[in-house]
Amino acid sequence: MLNILVLNGPNLNMLGKREPKIYGSQTLEDINSELAQVAEILGVALVFFQSNHEGALVDAVQAALNVQQGILINPGAYTHTSVAIRDAIAAVALPTVEVHLSNIHQREGFRHRSYIAPVAIGQISGFGSDSYRLGLEGLVKYLQKMKPDKRS
Ligand code: DQA
Repeated sequence: MLNILVLNGPNLNMLGKREPKIYGSQTLEDINSELAQVAEILGVALVFFQSNHEGALVDAVQAALNVQQGILINPGAYTHTSVAIRDAIAAVALPTVEVHLSNIHQREGFRHRSYIAPVAIGQISGFGSDSYRLGLEGLVKYLQKMKPDKRS
C-alpha cells in the first residue's frame, strides 16, 4: 500500500483561529480527518506531522526516505524562505506536492516566490482545505502511474 507523508509547517496548527477570512474556519484536525477519509477511498496510508520548526520539518522529510513514497506539504511561511526544506525534498527525491489554502499568487509579493515549487511535481493553491484533497489525489495518481521499481 502506498504510504504518504502529510507535512504542515508553521502556524498551521492555529488553523480555525488564525485569520479565518483567509484560511477558513476548519482546524488542522478537521482537514487531516477529511484527508484520512479520502485516503481510505484511495486505498493509501497517511502519516501526519506538523511543526513550527524548520529543522523538524527537514528531519521529517529525511525520515520519509525508504518509509513513505510521496510527500504532501503545506510549508506555510517556509514556502517563501526555506532553502533547507527545498534541499531536503531534493535530497530524498520523493514525489512531492505543495499545497496552500490561500492563492499565494494573489497575495503580497513576498508570497509569490516558492522555494519548494521547483522541486515539487506540482502546486495547488487557493482552494481552501480542498487544496489538500486535490493535492493528495494528484500525488496518488502520479505515484500509481510510476513503475513500482522506481518508487522509494
Ligand atoms: C499558506 C500561505 C503562506 O504564505 C502562509 O505563510 C501560510 C499558509 C497557505 O496555506 O495559504 O502560513 O501556506
